[in-house]
Amino acid sequence: MVYLDHAATSYPKPAEVTRAVLDYLVTAGANPGRSGHTLSARAARIIFEAREAIARHLGADDSRQMIFTNNATTALNLALAGMLHSGGHVVTTSLEHNSVMRPLRHLRERRGVTVSVVRSDSDGRIDPEKIRAAITPRTRLVVVNHGSNVIGTVAPIPEIRQAVGAIPLLIDAAQTAGAVPINVARDAIDLLAFTGHKALLGPQGTGGLYIRPGLDLPPLTRGGTGSGSESDDQPAILPDLHESGTPNGPGIAGLGAGVRLLTVTGHDAVWRREQALLKRLWTGLREIGGLTLYGPDNQLGRLPVVSLRIGDQAPSATAHALDRRNDIKVRAGLHCAPEAHRSLGTFPAGTVRLAAGYMSTDADIDRAVAAIREIAQEARN
Ligand SMILES: Cc1ncc(COP(=O)(O)O)c(C=O)c1O
Repeated sequence: MVYLDHAATSYPKPAEVTRAVLDYLVTAGANPGRSGHTLSARAARIIFEAREAIARHLGADDSRQMIFTNNATTALNLALAGMLHSGGHVVTTSLEHNSVMRPLRHLRERRGVTVSVVRSDSDGRIDPEKIRAAITPRTRLVVVNHGSNVIGTVAPIPEIRQAVGAIPLLIDAAQTAGAVPINVARDAIDLLAFTGHKALLGPQGTGGLYIRPGLDLPPLTRGGTGSGSESDDQPAILPDLHESGTPNGPGIAGLGAGVRLLTVTGHDAVWRREQALLKRLWTGLREIGGLTLYGPDNQLGRLPVVSLRIGDQAPSATAHALDRRNDIKVRAGLHCAPEAHRSLGTFPAGTVRLAAGYMSTDADIDRAVAAIREIAQEARN
């Protein structure tokens, strides 16, 4: 089996991650921060260490600014609902995932928020000057997808930061956290949503939001935190303000292990490996006749995420053939990002997406290229 669907979720997880999940369940499965006994303290300790690890990995000075959520979607909803109110304006891009587009549509219809969508070019690149030009005196937030889950292009965060001036900047790092070096403090990012189950190598059901110190963000959910229980009010301190209810302890333990593994490996080594995988994949696919490859024709500076079509074959038929004949797992369609496909000219059928990850091997890439060559040849005959 060849798994090339890492942009959806990474698989398999490293042994360190599996072990950490199991270890939490067996040795620390109590409710963290609630009960004061030693098991509860052990669970709280593991979650604290995971929070420290992710804060260090993403360049946050204080781990209390890292809120754990179930996924990037919850983190994005929390940030958007907290920042955008009646009469406000938001600037975003056509490369956003539905986890940004759908909450924005809701806020437009229910709260009267106005939304400007800056289109990428047909190669999936966003011009920071276009973002600057879309800003109005009522702009309260700029939301940018750091890495396209359709064609892997990476947005230029420092240039975008400069273009938007003092307007709060929300980065969707679902595809890039763990894959592309990120430093929230250096790049003056106000809010950064990440998911734990993709390039950070953690289990599904994990993710989070970085909140810049001093940024006032009301919670999306309120409830028990194990702190300040005498009060009917939600505690104002972070992370408790945003973390009500029993957390996904086993998941967070696994996420911590994934992040520590990446930190030991090093940002640069991970990025170099992903670039090598992309180069191998792109170079192999480029030589196949009858194939359309989307995105800039160079291998540098992108995630190892490649979108293609074989002639006029339906992307779902290509993906089905790869799965059933070659046991190769890829994803076809719109990848929850219809506007991105409109920018690329691939709406509504979408594309076939091959997404490698840090755990992918050269042999995985070679098998996928060989299988696509065969399918393309058949389609031509
Ligand atoms: C760019 C982008 N944003 C957000 C998400 C949502 O992530 P999650 O499913 O973890 O909520 C994804 C997932 O594919 C994504 O690719």
